[in-house]
Amino acid sequence: MSQFFTTIASLRSFLKTCPNKDRRVGLVPTMGALHRGHLSLIERARQENNYVVVSIFVNPLQFGVGEDLDKYPRTLDRDQQLCQSAGVDAIFAPSAQEIGAQAQLALRSGITQVLPPPEMTGVLCGRSRQGHFAGVATIVTKLLQIVQPDRAYFGQKDGQQLAILRKMVKDLNIPVEVIGCPTVREPDGLALSSRNQYLDTPQREMATALYQALRQAAALFQQGIGDRDRLVAVVRNFLATRPLIAVEYVELVDALSLQPLDSVFDALPDASDPNCTAQASNPEASSNAS
Ligand code: PAJ
Repeated sequence: MSQFFTTIASLRSFLKTCPNKDRRVGLVPTMGALHRGHLSLIERARQENNYVVVSIFVNPLQFGVGEDLDKYPRTLDRDQQLCQSAGVDAIFAPSAQEIGAQAQLALRSGITQVLPPPEMTGVLCGRSRQGHFAGVATIVTKLLQIVQPDRAYFGQKDGQQLAILRKMVKDLNIPVEVIGCPTVREPDGLALSSRNQYLDTPQREMATALYQALRQAAALFQQGIGDRDRLVAVVRNFLATRPLIAVEYVELVDALSLQPLDSVFDALPDASDPNCTAQASNPEASSNAS
């Protein structure tokens, strides 16, 4: 039975009742509207820990002005059922007031914030989403402090977010293991996302071109071609032939530092982390188109 908590105090007292010896807590932070992508993180957390906590919080801090904070899908009843079936022990679904004063969050003032390095937040998606990754880093820090898990699970789908959170946990000496999990896709290749429901039929059909374009780069890489210009060109050229798609960026970057690479073979995989090694040597994961 998944227990449901809306306050920090009640969640903390539940966690205190869990026997301490051999206790392993896995946290899966989400914004709700759960789908198979989220569930894959929960399953992994279930396998590796004896307590699984899922947080559901649509974080105002990470939405820019004019973004979809008000219309972001909220499906709490369904989310609770999915968590229940997935064997989640505790769902933490706080109000904005519980997490910090809502007005202050929305104004991005009056609250201590975590600021990841600008060279990681000002690139890729960060170029068009000012303040987004500071909002993510701040809320994830708060969740890690509240739950104090042994492991926290994040998707490789949001590769920039994952890299920034890994760096944050390392720089701030937060005692948690960050686990990156593979992207779950629709049969036609589109990555599952709560926001896919905003797409109309023609847009939905065209969205799969992103994956097809990345596969073209992966195919080149499998032939031994790691050169940035060639890999980026194949993705750009593929997308240029498709209607409805305006390319914001296509870049080859190091999966950990997010700094540009001239070649995939210049990436420096972190040998101590099998997740990072896989990502750094995989052009599909380290080049992102949106
Ligand atoms: P949200 O978009 O709800 O995603 C929660 C977690 O699920 C993230 O780690 C995301 O990368 C992962 N995820 C989403 N779709 C996925 C897919 N198709 N395959 C695998 N993993 C997937 O990301 C956030 O929320 C927020 O920024 C959050 C980290 C909760 C902070 O507010």
